[in-house]
Amino acid sequence: MNPMFWIWDAILFILPAYFANSLPVILGGGPSMDRGRKWKDGRPLLGEGKTIRGALVAIAAAALLGAIYQFFPPSGDLSSQMTLVVGLVMGVGTVLGDTIGSFLKRRLNIQRGETLPLIDQDGFVLMALLLTHFIQPVPLLYWILILAITPFVHVAFNVIAYIVHWKNVPY
Ligand code: CTP
Ligand code: MG
Repeated sequence: MNPMFWIWDAILFILPAYFANSLPVILGGGPSMDRGRKWKDGRPLLGEGKTIRGALVAIAAAALLGAIYQFFPPSGDLSSQMTLVVGLVMGVGTVLGDTIGSFLKRRLNIQRGETLPLIDQDGFVLMALLLTHFIQPVPLLYWILILAITPFVHVAFNVIAYIVHWKNVPY
């Protein structure tokens, strides 16, 4: 089998998580999930960058994309298994991973928007894969491919988002 096929299938499969992680940049905002609460260390629990609307947009976007796949299945081995429910679970995993990442960053005294390498790039996708795996088993090859490819996609997206003024920093 052509390795490009696996890579293409892996990216198609994880695409709902990418949407879930990037759409809040343009559609998020409003009250934060932590509502300004602080942790024992006096720093924000999560920070102002993690909003309720952003989380809802993320989950809805992943579920919607899952539904589109369900009606128009791609030809890939794994991506053809995507459904509304799988997308929804993937979206919840994405938000969970992203939110845990912010919690860790605040504990490490990394300000909102500042970067924590690896966690920022792969944290959301790791949790998305983990949750998804419970209802739609993900072969090991796909875990490896997705975790290897995502940091590059993440960096490319952030540079583009910076160029078109969606983000103030290119990371
Ligand atoms: N966003 C949101 N709600 C979320 C996640 C993201 O509104 N649940 C929006 C915020 O405007 C956020 C932007 O998307 O600033 C970029 O997301 P991200 O990089 O995850 O947040 P940061 O601002 O970098 O904050 P942190 O350091 O906590 O990751
Ligand atoms: Mg960020």
